[in-house]
Amino acid sequence: MVAVVGGGQLARMMQESAIALGIHLRALVEADDGSTGQVVVDSTVGEASDASAVRGLSEGADVLTFEHEHVPQDVLAALSPDLAVNPPAGALLYAQDKLAMRERLGALGIPCPRWARLDTPQDLQHFGDEVGWPVIVKTPVGGYDGHGVRVVHSAEEAHDWFARSTPLLAEEKVAFTGELAALLARRPSGEVRSWPVARTIQRDGVCAEVEAPAPGLDPEVARQAREIGERIARELGVTGVLAVEMFLVEEPRADGQGRTQRVLVNELAMRPHNSGHWTIEGAVTSQFEQHLRAVLDLPLGDPTPRAPWSVMVNLLGSELADPTLGLAGAFSASPDARVHLYGKSVRPGRKLGHVTVCGPDLAAARAQAEAAVAALRGE
Ligand SMILES: Nc1ncnc2c1ncn2[C@@H]1O[C@H](COP(=O)(O)OP(=O)(O)O)[C@@H](O)[C@H]1O
Ligand SMILES: [Mg+2]
Repeated sequence: MVAVVGGGQLARMMQESAIALGIHLRALVEADDGSTGQVVVDSTVGEASDASAVRGLSEGADVLTFEHEHVPQDVLAALSPDLAVNPPAGALLYAQDKLAMRERLGALGIPCPRWARLDTPQDLQHFGDEVGWPVIVKTPVGGYDGHGVRVVHSAEEAHDWFARSTPLLAEEKVAFTGELAALLARRPSGEVRSWPVARTIQRDGVCAEVEAPAPGLDPEVARQAREIGERIARELGVTGVLAVEMFLVEEPRADGQGRTQRVLVNELAMRPHNSGHWTIEGAVTSQFEQHLRAVLDLPLGDPTPRAPWSVMVNLLGSELADPTLGLAGAFSASPDARVHLYGKSVRPGRKLGHVTVCGPDLAAARAQAEAAVAALRGE
């Protein structure tokens, strides 16, 4: 039995793979009728920060895992030492706390944006004066989908955050030409398998679209990105799926012949990730199946792509009362669309589902996926 903390779309999609593998999944969910609660029979309502709820969830389970990083360290420390926890608390820390992550990756010599720990507005002033304004300020803990990330042009603009809690994290604002995700899985006994590096497109801090493999990425840079991901997994002792979000920086070559590419690590997620939804149809083994295999320390599956290109487009909000009302339109617009709806009630901008299209032509796959999503949005 696999016990999972979280009741969103990620645990919901783990259930699909658990069904095929005959694995009993048990979930600790925010609401009974939420995305996971609807489909995981053995789900109970409770808080990820409630030690007794997490202990109850883990009872009798072979392993405890997560669909988000918001389980406090003291809750994890209170669990039985005999319980397998994948990823372990000591690794999960670096997905929970962006300051700890910056310190650790810095010590490993992994390329990151310039950053600083901020205890006072003066620290921010000094950092901005040094690296140039504007700068990015982040709350180290608890952020997601761009909540907890701010572009500031002066130290004053972050005053309210300093008043709330410190330390904060400052980063140079990277002039990236694209964002990438290196996705892999690692099992406790050490085996690591990577999917091709994907390109992710964020709008307003939220992932909107993913293309795999990342178009236009220099194969040597793709190899480096993959190696960075695998090195992080090994050094930090990550188990399960790891997504390493990266910035792609491109500069004209000194000799004027084309551009050089390099990557900087943005952040880590230790669970199936939005950048890997394309693997459900687009790879031999999906990230959800691979996560279950990895956390159970089973031999990992083949991450090879099934098609030259996969494009995943998120459904963010809808004009329809229920996006299933758009299914007919989606399928007539895009016969090859693979639709995933998460059973969530509609709210503006909310991640309600995603569509993947795989095929031999990137532009055609993108157009089909976008058309299907437009139909699900009621456009
Ligand atoms: N140092 C940075 N420079 C430029 N853009 C950034 C930087 N850090 C974050 N961003 C932008 O904000 C988005 C969200 O930041 P991230 O740290 O990944 O937060 P979250 O935990 O909300 O995903 C990134 O995907 C990127 O588009
Ligand atoms: Mg992010």
